[in-house]
Amino acid sequence: MTAKRRILVTSALPYANGSIHMGHLVEYIQTDIWVRFQKMRGNECWYVCADDTHGTPVMLKAQSLGLQPEEMIARMREEHLADFSAFHIAFDNYYSTHSEENREFCYGIYKALRSNGHIATRTISQLFDPEKQMFLPDRFVKGECPKCGATDQYGDSCDVCGATYAPTELKNPKSAVSGATPVLKESEHYFFKLPDFEAFLKHWTRNGHVHASIANKLDEWFEAGLSEWDISRDAPYFGFEIPDAPGKYFYVWLDAPVGYMASFKNLCAQKDLAFDDFWKADSTAEVYHFIGKDIVYFHTLFWPAMLKGSGYRTPTSVYAHGFLTVNGTKMSKSKGTFVTARTYLDHLNPEWLRYYFAAKLGAGVDDIDLNLEDFVNRVNSDLVGKVVNIASRCAGFIHKQFGGLLSSHNAEPALLKELQDAADGLAKAYEDREYGKAMRDIMALADKVNEYIAAKAPWTLAKNPDTAKEAHDVCTVGLNAFRLLALYLKPVLPKLAEQAEHFLNIDSLLWMDAQSLMLTHKINEFQPMMVRVEGAKVAAMIEASKENLQPTAAPAAAENASGSGTTTASALITHEPFKPVIGIDDFDRIDLRIARIDNAEHVEGAEKLLKLTLNVGAETRTVFAGIKSAYDPASLIGKHTVMVANLAPRKMKFGMSEGMVLAAGPGGKDLWILEPHTGAQPGMRVK
Ligand code: 2FM
Ligand code: ZN
Repeated sequence: MTAKRRILVTSALPYANGSIHMGHLVEYIQTDIWVRFQKMRGNECWYVCADDTHGTPVMLKAQSLGLQPEEMIARMREEHLADFSAFHIAFDNYYSTHSEENREFCYGIYKALRSNGHIATRTISQLFDPEKQMFLPDRFVKGECPKCGATDQYGDSCDVCGATYAPTELKNPKSAVSGATPVLKESEHYFFKLPDFEAFLKHWTRNGHVHASIANKLDEWFEAGLSEWDISRDAPYFGFEIPDAPGKYFYVWLDAPVGYMASFKNLCAQKDLAFDDFWKADSTAEVYHFIGKDIVYFHTLFWPAMLKGSGYRTPTSVYAHGFLTVNGTKMSKSKGTFVTARTYLDHLNPEWLRYYFAAKLGAGVDDIDLNLEDFVNRVNSDLVGKVVNIASRCAGFIHKQFGGLLSSHNAEPALLKELQDAADGLAKAYEDREYGKAMRDIMALADKVNEYIAAKAPWTLAKNPDTAKEAHDVCTVGLNAFRLLALYLKPVLPKLAEQAEHFLNIDSLLWMDAQSLMLTHKINEFQPMMVRVEGAKVAAMIEASKENLQPTAAPAAAENASGSGTTTASALITHEPFKPVIGIDDFDRIDLRIARIDNAEHVEGAEKLLKLTLNVGAETRTVFAGIKSAYDPASLIGKHTVMVANLAPRKMKFGMSEGMVLAAGPGGKDLWILEPHTGAQPGMRVK
């Protein structure tokens, strides 16, 4: 028996300004599987996470919603937690970087770095929004690419030609916050002297703390040379003020990884654990960070250097995964493949996605593709067709003919031994994060069990009193095999395993239970455990994910305009041929009515839409209209406009839209709803 390991595991902290989507879930599912596996092995394993709450995007998002940042992050944390727990992501603690524990650790680490000489200050010039009175992060400046001249490009890189540059190089820069032309302004910044740690980092990254593919990337970075890291931002900023530096705040990326420690510290108070056992410099506990490949720099250079420079232990390993694509391409809002956790849950079983991701995941940083057709086929064929099928085929006879009691005889020791002997190999695959291999091996075992059952045909044996005992034995072997398969799948499918435990009338399965069998054992009645995925439900999920994007530029109009709760003149400014001519009768079929806007509000999570409550005389309609870029909802209330009143209701991501309002304009701020004369009454027909 090997000694019990003490392990702390983290997933990257999701930003508090957006919902959890399928891309995020790759990581949380990957980590949760690993943690569940460690717990089943009997190790002491703690899984902590938190919302990443600071920074300019969070601050501005709260402002746009008319909320204090504290209130918005509190709501967001609840939403994130609800999504995670529905996907069976079992954190031991889910905290917030906006916490006292985090502030204290940030101060402690910063002061230690400062007194060890690793902090420098100097004055830099940056773009400043004179209207909003704030410095602009690169992504909040837009303008023309200095290389190819493409318009509407961010301040750090060009989507059209791929060039990277400083925001000061953009031509005709504009603040994305206010639209004002930014000016250059100086301010003093604080820097973490990363080059002080070059020798340590080279050694650390080459000594098994990162996967080989990441080590190669790090070599490139070392060759390019390490630079000092700007860790301060000027007010206004939502974050922690830097000690002894009024008006200066820690950059969100400084306090985010410290949030791992803060969340763990908060857990220590709940569980009476000793924080230092895990974090002191000579700790023998293990610390693992699961992250996406886009944030490797922060976790393998800045973070270990910060820890080293302030006297803490460094991570045992940083495990990076690749990005998620759907049907082979980047997730897309217009294609409906940008699916939030909640929309998925509205249509599909979370364990299907857990299994599918597991089947695709390995230890490296390769991107993983969610091919929706493959998803349906694989889940149906593997989970329903191979695994659950074993239980449903065997359970009936045990109940009908043998009083729910398993045989005392192991009739197929070779097969069951083969399943039991797989435990070590599967454990190694889980430990090494080679889940795809584990799933393949488990399904190969399930195939063997199904072949055995098919060859023995217990349904035939059970009919004849002379062979009924053999049917009993075969089903007993089948259900023992099912128990082992459920055990091996338990890190991935905790809910299915729980249902299996209840059906088999056994305690919660641990990894070592693979070495025992159930003979002369009473089981419970079989209940269906998992249904097949229906393609139609997947299609409905994609449909519900299609945010009705409002066109802002001509070429995008054709793709995006259809089905939105607004019809705008900009949809006509395309180079597409006109649609076939319609007669006046066709036009007459459109019922245009005066509508009074009784309410208008923002839609949580929607970039373009406002939710309108329209009074059309006899009834009230809810319409989602893509006019958020142009109107403050409060300014619309009480206005009269024109709506298409006989448009079939359409289920949108955020609810049912019951009509369409008419608006015109090139898009963005320049979009106007039709405002009829003052004598207009709700419900009047417009001719
Ligand atoms: O990239 C992100 O989504 C960040 N919020 C991850 C932070 S991870 C850790 F450092 F806090
Ligand atoms: Zn360019």
